[in-house]
Amino acid sequence: MKGQFIVFEGIEGGGKTSQIEQTREWLQKGGLGKPLDVIQTREPGGTELGQKLRSLLLNDHSLHIDDRSELLLYAADRAQHVNQFLKPQLKEGKIILCDRFIDSTTAYQGYGRGLDLDLIRQLNAIASDGLESDLTLWLDVEVETGLQRVQERGKRDRVEESDLAFHQRVREGYTALAEQFPQRIIPINANESPQQVQAAIQKTLLAHLS
Ligand code: TMP
Repeated sequence: MKGQFIVFEGIEGGGKTSQIEQTREWLQKGGLGKPLDVIQTREPGGTELGQKLRSLLLNDHSLHIDDRSELLLYAADRAQHVNQFLKPQLKEGKIILCDRFIDSTTAYQGYGRGLDLDLIRQLNAIASDGLESDLTLWLDVEVETGLQRVQERGKRDRVEESDLAFHQRVREGYTALAEQFPQRIIPINANESPQQVQAAIQKTLLAHLS
Protein backbone atom coordinates (compact mmCIF):
# COMPACT_ATOMS: atom_id res chain seq x y z
CA MET A 1 0.00 0.00 0.00
CA LYS A 2 1.31 3.48 -0.80
CA GLY A 3 1.59 6.16 1.87
CA GLN A 4 -1.71 7.32 3.32
CA PHE A 5 -2.44 10.53 5.17
CA ILE A 6 -5.28 10.08 7.66
CA VAL A 7 -6.36 13.04 9.77
CA PHE A 8 -8.44 13.10 12.95
CA GLU A 9 -10.44 16.26 13.65
CA GLY A 10 -13.01 17.60 16.10
CA ILE A 11 -13.69 19.83 19.08
CA GLU A 12 -12.18 19.21 22.50
CA GLY A 13 -13.39 16.19 24.44
CA GLY A 14 -14.12 13.95 21.46
CA GLY A 15 -11.47 11.44 22.59
CA LYS A 16 -9.15 12.01 19.61
CA THR A 17 -5.89 11.25 21.37
CA SER A 18 -6.80 7.82 22.73
CA GLN A 19 -8.71 6.89 19.57
CA ILE A 20 -5.65 7.68 17.44
CA GLU A 21 -3.47 5.50 19.67
CA GLN A 22 -5.90 2.58 19.50
CA THR A 23 -6.21 2.98 15.72
CA ARG A 24 -2.42 2.97 15.34
CA GLU A 25 -2.14 -0.28 17.33
CA TRP A 26 -4.96 -1.88 15.33
CA LEU A 27 -3.36 -0.97 11.99
CA GLN A 28 0.10 -2.09 13.16
CA LYS A 29 -1.33 -5.44 14.21
CA GLY A 30 -2.88 -6.02 10.78
CA GLY A 31 -6.43 -4.64 11.13
CA LEU A 32 -6.52 -3.92 7.40
CA GLY A 33 -5.31 -7.39 6.42
CA LYS A 34 -1.57 -7.09 7.02
CA PRO A 35 0.62 -5.23 9.56
CA LEU A 36 1.29 -1.66 8.38
CA ASP A 37 4.06 0.84 8.98
CA VAL A 38 2.10 3.49 10.89
CA ILE A 39 3.27 6.72 12.48
CA GLN A 40 1.42 9.18 14.63
CA THR A 41 1.84 12.96 14.66
CA ARG A 42 -0.06 16.12 15.49
CA GLU A 43 -0.61 19.80 14.84
CA PRO A 44 0.50 21.97 16.36
CA GLY A 45 3.69 20.27 17.51
CA GLY A 46 4.79 17.68 14.94
CA THR A 47 8.32 19.10 14.59
CA GLU A 48 10.89 20.67 16.90
CA LEU A 49 9.80 24.16 15.82
CA GLY A 50 6.19 23.01 16.12
CA GLN A 51 6.70 21.95 19.75
CA LYS A 52 7.91 25.46 20.60
CA LEU A 53 4.98 27.01 18.73
CA ARG A 54 2.56 24.64 20.49
CA SER A 55 3.86 25.70 23.85
CA LEU A 56 3.46 29.40 22.94
CA LEU A 57 0.00 28.88 21.46
CA LEU A 58 -1.53 26.67 24.12
CA ASN A 59 0.39 26.70 27.38
CA ASP A 60 1.62 30.23 27.96
CA HIS A 61 -1.44 31.72 29.64
CA SER A 62 0.23 35.08 30.33
CA LEU A 63 0.88 35.78 26.65
CA HIS A 64 -1.63 37.84 24.66
CA ILE A 65 -1.87 36.45 21.12
CA ASP A 66 -3.85 38.46 18.61
CA ASP A 67 -6.27 36.40 16.46
CA ARG A 68 -4.37 37.06 13.23
CA SER A 69 -1.05 36.29 14.88
CA GLU A 70 -2.54 33.05 16.17
CA LEU A 71 -3.64 32.16 12.63
CA LEU A 72 -0.14 32.75 11.27
CA LEU A 73 1.52 30.75 14.04
CA TYR A 74 -0.66 27.71 13.25
CA ALA A 75 0.23 28.19 9.57
CA ALA A 76 3.95 28.33 10.40
CA ASP A 77 3.65 25.11 12.41
CA ARG A 78 1.90 23.46 9.43
CA ALA A 79 4.37 24.64 6.79
CA GLN A 80 7.25 23.17 8.80
CA HIS A 81 5.36 19.94 9.51
CA VAL A 82 4.42 19.38 5.85
CA ASN A 83 7.91 19.92 4.47
CA GLN A 84 10.05 18.48 7.22
CA PHE A 85 7.90 15.52 8.23
CA LEU A 86 4.66 14.70 6.39
CA LYS A 87 5.80 14.77 2.75
CA PRO A 88 9.06 12.82 3.33
CA GLN A 89 7.23 10.16 5.40
CA LEU A 90 4.49 9.75 2.79
CA LYS A 91 7.16 9.37 0.12
CA GLU A 92 8.55 6.45 2.12
CA GLY A 93 5.12 4.81 2.06
CA LYS A 94 4.19 5.40 5.70
CA ILE A 95 0.62 5.43 6.95
CA ILE A 96 0.33 8.70 8.89
CA LEU A 97 -2.27 9.29 11.58
CA CYS A 98 -2.33 13.03 12.21
CA ASP A 99 -4.12 14.75 15.08
CA ARG A 100 -5.56 17.86 13.31
CA PHE A 101 -4.73 19.53 9.99
CA ILE A 102 -6.16 22.35 7.81
CA ASP A 103 -9.80 21.84 8.86
CA SER A 104 -8.84 22.84 12.43
CA THR A 105 -7.77 26.25 11.16
CA THR A 106 -11.02 26.74 9.23
CA ALA A 107 -13.10 25.60 12.21
CA TYR A 108 -11.22 27.38 15.05
CA GLN A 109 -9.76 30.52 13.46
CA GLY A 110 -12.48 30.87 10.79
CA TYR A 111 -15.74 29.87 12.46
CA GLY A 112 -14.55 30.19 16.07
CA ARG A 113 -12.62 33.47 15.94
CA GLY A 114 -14.50 34.87 12.94
CA LEU A 115 -11.50 35.46 10.65
CA ASP A 116 -12.14 35.64 6.91
CA LEU A 117 -12.72 32.15 5.47
CA ASP A 118 -11.27 32.99 2.08
CA LEU A 119 -8.08 34.31 3.66
CA ILE A 120 -7.84 31.08 5.66
CA ARG A 121 -8.36 28.98 2.55
CA GLN A 122 -5.46 30.78 0.84
CA LEU A 123 -3.24 30.49 3.90
CA ASN A 124 -4.06 26.78 4.28
CA ALA A 125 -3.03 26.24 0.66
CA ILE A 126 0.30 27.98 1.25
CA ALA A 127 1.02 26.19 4.54
CA SER A 128 0.02 22.72 3.32
CA ASP A 129 1.92 23.15 0.05
CA GLY A 130 -0.96 21.37 -1.70
CA LEU A 131 -0.98 18.34 0.62
CA GLU A 132 -4.49 16.99 1.29
CA SER A 133 -5.59 14.17 3.55
CA ASP A 134 -6.64 10.88 1.97
CA LEU A 135 -9.28 10.65 4.65
CA THR A 136 -10.37 12.86 7.55
CA LEU A 137 -12.23 11.30 10.46
CA TRP A 138 -14.28 13.95 12.24
CA LEU A 139 -14.95 12.83 15.82
CA ASP A 140 -18.16 14.74 16.37
CA VAL A 141 -19.22 15.22 19.97
CA GLU A 142 -21.92 17.49 21.47
CA VAL A 143 -20.24 20.64 22.79
CA GLU A 144 -21.58 20.20 26.34
CA THR A 145 -20.45 16.55 26.46
CA GLY A 146 -16.99 17.41 25.10
CA LEU A 147 -16.41 20.28 27.52
CA GLN A 148 -17.67 18.18 30.43
CA ARG A 149 -15.08 15.51 29.56
CA VAL A 150 -12.35 18.18 29.36
CA GLN A 151 -13.39 19.53 32.76
CA GLU A 152 -13.17 16.06 34.29
CA ARG A 153 -9.59 15.77 32.98
CA GLY A 154 -8.62 18.80 35.07
CA LYS A 155 -5.95 21.01 33.50
CA ARG A 156 -7.21 23.11 30.60
CA ASP A 157 -5.22 24.88 27.89
CA ARG A 158 -5.88 28.33 26.43
CA VAL A 159 -8.38 27.17 23.81
CA GLU A 160 -10.21 24.81 26.13
CA GLU A 161 -10.83 27.81 28.40
CA SER A 162 -12.82 29.61 25.70
CA ASP A 163 -16.55 29.88 26.21
CA LEU A 164 -19.35 27.55 25.14
CA ALA A 165 -20.41 29.79 22.23
CA PHE A 166 -16.89 29.64 20.78
CA HIS A 167 -16.89 25.83 20.79
CA GLN A 168 -20.39 25.79 19.33
CA ARG A 169 -19.16 27.93 16.41
CA VAL A 170 -16.19 25.59 15.95
CA ARG A 171 -18.52 22.59 15.78
CA GLU A 172 -20.69 24.44 13.24
CA GLY A 173 -17.49 24.96 11.25
CA TYR A 174 -16.81 21.23 11.16
CA THR A 175 -20.44 20.58 10.19
CA ALA A 176 -20.12 23.00 7.26
CA LEU A 177 -16.81 21.46 6.17
CA ALA A 178 -18.24 17.92 6.29
CA GLU A 179 -21.13 19.06 4.08
CA GLN A 180 -18.72 20.72 1.67
CA PHE A 181 -16.29 17.78 1.41
CA PRO A 182 -18.36 14.61 1.95
CA GLN A 183 -15.83 12.40 0.10
CA ARG A 184 -12.92 13.41 2.30
CA ILE A 185 -14.51 14.12 5.71
CA ILE A 186 -16.31 11.23 7.42
CA PRO A 187 -18.28 12.05 10.59
CA ILE A 188 -17.92 9.61 13.51
CA ASN A 189 -20.38 9.86 16.41
CA ALA A 190 -18.07 10.55 19.36
CA ASN A 191 -20.89 10.82 21.92
CA GLU A 192 -20.84 7.01 22.07
CA SER A 193 -18.58 4.91 24.32
CA PRO A 194 -14.86 4.74 23.43
CA GLN A 195 -15.36 1.10 22.26
CA GLN A 196 -18.20 2.09 19.92
CA VAL A 197 -16.20 5.02 18.56
CA GLN A 198 -13.18 2.77 17.89
CA ALA A 199 -15.44 0.23 16.14
CA ALA A 200 -16.85 2.99 13.90
CA ILE A 201 -13.34 4.20 13.05
CA GLN A 202 -12.19 0.68 12.12
CA LYS A 203 -15.28 0.13 9.98
CA THR A 204 -14.66 3.40 8.14
CA LEU A 205 -10.99 2.59 7.52
CA LEU A 206 -11.91 -0.88 6.26
CA ALA A 207 -14.41 0.65 3.86
CA HIS A 208 -12.08 3.35 2.56
CA LEU A 209 -8.58 1.92 2.68
CA SER A 210 -8.49 -1.85 2.34
P1 TMP B 1 -5.22 19.28 20.81
O1 TMP B 1 -4.28 18.85 19.74
O2 TMP B 1 -4.85 18.79 22.14
O3 TMP B 1 -6.63 19.06 20.46
O4 TMP B 1 -5.02 20.88 20.97
C1 TMP B 1 -4.76 21.69 19.92
C2 TMP B 1 -5.54 22.98 20.06
O5 TMP B 1 -5.12 23.87 19.02
C3 TMP B 1 -7.04 22.81 19.92
O6 TMP B 1 -7.68 23.56 20.89
C4 TMP B 1 -7.35 23.41 18.57
C5 TMP B 1 -6.24 24.40 18.34
N1 TMP B 1 -5.92 24.57 16.92
C6 TMP B 1 -6.36 25.70 16.26
O7 TMP B 1 -7.03 26.54 16.86
N2 TMP B 1 -6.04 25.86 14.94
C7 TMP B 1 -5.29 24.97 14.24
O8 TMP B 1 -5.03 25.15 13.05
C8 TMP B 1 -4.83 23.78 14.95
C9 TMP B 1 -4.01 22.77 14.22
C10 TMP B 1 -5.16 23.63 16.27
